[in-house]
Amino acid sequence: MNISQISRRAVIATAVTLAMPVAMAQAPAKLKVGFMLPATGTFAALGTAIENGFRLHLAEQGGKLGGREVEFFKVDDESDPSKAIDNVNKLIKRDNVDVLVGSVHSGVAMAMARVAKGSGTLMINPNGGADAVTGAMCAVNIFRTSFSNWQPGFAIGQAMAAKGHKTAATITWKYAAGDEMAKGFKEGFEKAGGKITKELNLPFPNVEFQALLTEIASAKPDAVFSFFAGGGAVKFVKDYDAAGLKKNIPLFGTGFLTDGTLEAQGASADGVLTALHYADGLNTPRDNAFRLAYAKTYKMQPDVYAVQGYDAAQILGIGLAAVKGDAKNAAGFAAAVTKATIDSPRGKFTMSKAHNPIQDMYLRQVSGKENKVVGIASKALEDPARGCKM
Ligand code: PHB
Repeated sequence: MNISQISRRAVIATAVTLAMPVAMAQAPAKLKVGFMLPATGTFAALGTAIENGFRLHLAEQGGKLGGREVEFFKVDDESDPSKAIDNVNKLIKRDNVDVLVGSVHSGVAMAMARVAKGSGTLMINPNGGADAVTGAMCAVNIFRTSFSNWQPGFAIGQAMAAKGHKTAATITWKYAAGDEMAKGFKEGFEKAGGKITKELNLPFPNVEFQALLTEIASAKPDAVFSFFAGGGAVKFVKDYDAAGLKKNIPLFGTGFLTDGTLEAQGASADGVLTALHYADGLNTPRDNAFRLAYAKTYKMQPDVYAVQGYDAAQILGIGLAAVKGDAKNAAGFAAAVTKATIDSPRGKFTMSKAHNPIQDMYLRQVSGKENKVVGIASKALEDPARGCKM
């Protein structure tokens, strides 16, 4: 190697060294998204659908949100509120995530919201309906793309009364989601003149329904309201039918009772009436395109959970675009998201001041393998956000 070769190499090496930090500074760091969802237990399939929906929207955006590539971190929260604080801290402290996405179970979602509120970490809740998340615990950095437990409960209460039923029994799991959906139902049903004659529940995630079904049979209400979801919903609907109740005491519920479950429920679900912010047969160009893309990618039909996951990614994209990818700018993020109209497969919706969707609650009836839309139970229903000061 002669002198001129050495100096040429030195010049190139210097140029590369100088150029590198500039190039690195130009490519923004990857956005760290922490999924805190159930991968096991009665809600496992719900977690999968949420993640599928989220990833579908991300893929449609070329793998970037707010100009940043996305890197995922995951914990299986097991739908267990007692492990929720540890789990959310793994994502925040160990993995240093920019945004939390979760969860399905109301109790887990509340624990996440408490931690997110304290740490200021951006949180997008793609399911857990706990009213407090966008009520007493509302915060500038906390958003929900799904529903408050009150919303579908209230809507189906009104719909049940509109069908002419005067008395109802309620049956749910005993935890925030069951309690609050039953409470929303009661408010809607009683406002329309109905009366609750029996309130039944069992601990989450138990599925020993027999004794409670016997109580319903002897109480003889005009109709039954119920909330179960995932694996528990499959068993409840089958047991209700097998007990011979369905033909005498019509079964109603929040839409989770029959969403993502119809394959497994078979004919036992036929005719069940529910209210939810998504349905089969919407037949809009937006929903048709979403369903086609989802079916192509995952070889299965989407459900409400997939839509909520998809919209979590949409909201993240909208908010981050406004703050140029800076996930710490919660105020700028919130301003953009609350101003936006979200073009969801469920139909367009806006976010309330408390960061919960203002959305139509469809009335759906099971027919074959579909939750067929048969009307609108409640138009542009906004959660009252009781206790939210923001
Ligand atoms: C909840 O715990 O908030 C919850 C869980 C599953 C559902 C709906 C709500 O399908």
